[in-house]
Amino acid sequence: MNMMNFLKTRKSTREFKKKAITEADLTKVESLIGSINEELSGINMKVKLYEYGQHIYDSLKGLGGYAGVMIESPHYIAFDFSAKDEKTLLLSGYNMEKLVTGLNNMGLGTCWVSLNGVDKERKTVIFGDTSSDYEAILAFGYPKPKNPFIHEPFSERLGVEELVFKEKLGEPITMDELEMRGLGDLLFYIRFAPSRFNRQPWRFVVHDTQIDLFVVEEGGDNNLMDAGIVMYYCEELAKLQGIGTGWEINLDDVEIEVKKYRHIGSFKL
Ligand SMILES: Cc1cc2nc3c(=O)[nH]c(=O)nc-3n(C[C@H](O)[C@H](O)[C@H](O)COP(=O)(O)O)c2cc1C
Repeated sequence: MNMMNFLKTRKSTREFKKKAITEADLTKVESLIGSINEELSGINMKVKLYEYGQHIYDSLKGLGGYAGVMIESPHYIAFDFSAKDEKTLLLSGYNMEKLVTGLNNMGLGTCWVSLNGVDKERKTVIFGDTSSDYEAILAFGYPKPKNPFIHEPFSERLGVEELVFKEKLGEPITMDELEMRGLGDLLFYIRFAPSRFNRQPWRFVVHDTQIDLFVVEEGGDNNLMDAGIVMYYCEELAKLQGIGTGWEINLDDVEIEVKKYRHIGSFKL
């Protein structure tokens, strides 16, 4: 499936079959993780596979997930950070979503699970490592079959006009103009990226030579993982269309009419 269709139909799996994935699939997952870890050498983090998920689910029931609704799956994946700086958080969102794409291509379902409500000591006990102060983990496994007669609720997305601006934040840009610049599909489909609480904190400002990415900072939440996720999809969609050369990371604060934004970086066109 191409990336545009994948994004449009992308849906978290929240109900998994209880059975573990096959040995053959496990080998593929391990090799996927291995290649990401190779790319991450020299960076302060490492992908870690928790093959036996039951203990994790039992320990996080009532604590992990939105309002303690822990997602039960046979396996989980997390990122160990040796130093939890801002760039590392950004890269964890980026690389986790790269993993999600690989797992989905294998027919596996995935769901991000927030662990912000779980205290650090407990996480250390559960994951058995001092570097395991995870903000989120990824549940994965075979999805339970869905009843074709029950229509699943769609997670709404903000419109292009709410997320994309011209030259500066708040300055509107039309879809026609985005099309004329060859950015219509990119900025239409990117909205389907996942984000915590589906908040979609991203804002894009289009210039002639770059697209600036900002995230809204809310309630002390820096949304850096969400930013990393959208950076991954931006890069993949742009590659598909032969646009741009990649991201330059910035991480500056910007204040506009009491709302605080973070300038994450610029995608060079
Ligand atoms: C960092 C992060 C944490 C998330 N935590 C949870 C979670 O704890 N529980 C959950 O059901 N979904 C979680 N999600 C999934 C998002 O809610 C979901 O991707 C988004 O709302 C779109 O919904 P959909 O995937 O169902 O279409 C998380 C997503 C991200 C990026």
